[in-house]
Amino acid sequence: MILSEIDSDFGVMRYIRTALMASKNLLLLAGDGIGPEAMAEVKKLIAAMNDKLGSDFVTDEGLVGGCAYDAHGAAISDADMAKAMAADAVLFGAVGGPKWDAVPYEVRPEAGLLRLRKDMELFANLRPAICYPALAASSSLKQEVVEGLDILIVRELTGGVYFGEPKQIVDLGNGQKRGIDTQVYDTFEIERISGVAFELARTRKNHVTSMEKRNVMKSGVLWNEVVTQTHKARYADVKLDHMLADAGGMQLVRWPKQFDVIVTDNLFGDMLSDIAAMLTGSIGMLPSASLGAPDAKTKKRKALYEPVHGSAPDISGKGIANPIAMIASFAMCLRYSFGMVAEADKLEAAIAAVLDDGLRTKDILSEGMTEVGTVQMGDAIIAKFLG
Ligand code: IPM
Ligand code: MG
Repeated sequence: MILSEIDSDFGVMRYIRTALMASKNLLLLAGDGIGPEAMAEVKKLIAAMNDKLGSDFVTDEGLVGGCAYDAHGAAISDADMAKAMAADAVLFGAVGGPKWDAVPYEVRPEAGLLRLRKDMELFANLRPAICYPALAASSSLKQEVVEGLDILIVRELTGGVYFGEPKQIVDLGNGQKRGIDTQVYDTFEIERISGVAFELARTRKNHVTSMEKRNVMKSGVLWNEVVTQTHKARYADVKLDHMLADAGGMQLVRWPKQFDVIVTDNLFGDMLSDIAAMLTGSIGMLPSASLGAPDAKTKKRKALYEPVHGSAPDISGKGIANPIAMIASFAMCLRYSFGMVAEADKLEAAIAAVLDDGLRTKDILSEGMTEVGTVQMGDAIIAKFLG
């Protein structure tokens, strides 16, 4: 074989390897309710990025939640689970609805999301609550309380009472039953989630508030200890406060701007992030990223991005759902999974600009603004982003 042939063989191999590495594989799991409507706007955005910006996203789709139950009798099939494990990132819409209220607990729609979180080991859930200037008036709180708000809730996502065993209903045989859930945390789980919070705080205002209930829960006592030790050992430059989770909920609505990064467990994080969502004007605004640990070899993290809002069956199919949380979740995907920071910034700026222009979906509508549907909102954001 002559040298040039070897060279060109290597060239082809290099090409294939770069092509494989370069393409960004996304699995889209739109789910139920308004999930598919919101996801449709992100699909348009991805197509536009491939088409106009030369991006190299490759998408595949799967079923999760009630629609997966209807198709396979499971909240997510093993085949779709395997796709999720192999993807560079998963974009998730929403799951659930009254149609599946009576299905067995093990295969209820939410089980699909919980399996994704657990099997992909997505222990760190980032929920930023940003109050866009144009929306300060539509929060249920006074404008001065929420204007300029920018906080980040870091919720532990694979432990605690969501997954602790035993988890069961026991028949006590005397006409009584006992419902049991187990709140359990090991040192490493608290260490790694607080590490994520401290690292992120360093890129922001360098302030972490840890929330637990150490006054009544042993897991809270350990949480407090481990966060304090982690801080002392590795992150002493970051300001750390501790707050009881109930007081934290109260402070979130009293004066949320006192917070920068909040780190908390799975259940408190679920509740506190819904509270934080309302500070921003509507739960239709809040994106989230769920990240795993970086792979030892590739350094890549498994990741799933989802809006915090649920499937909103009451408004699904009407074309009025707010796609912003879904689009902003994709912005987080660009930022955290693909290092496309400039594009993420631009997409977030496009959302702010469209709001500045006065476009509003029903959930964030206020006087003098222009009401638009899901598709128009998506189109307007995409146009700003590309423009
Ligand atoms: C969330 C949701 C989920 C949770 C449900 C759908 C299982 O409320 O992501 O906040 O409780 O974690
Ligand atoms: Mg929730």
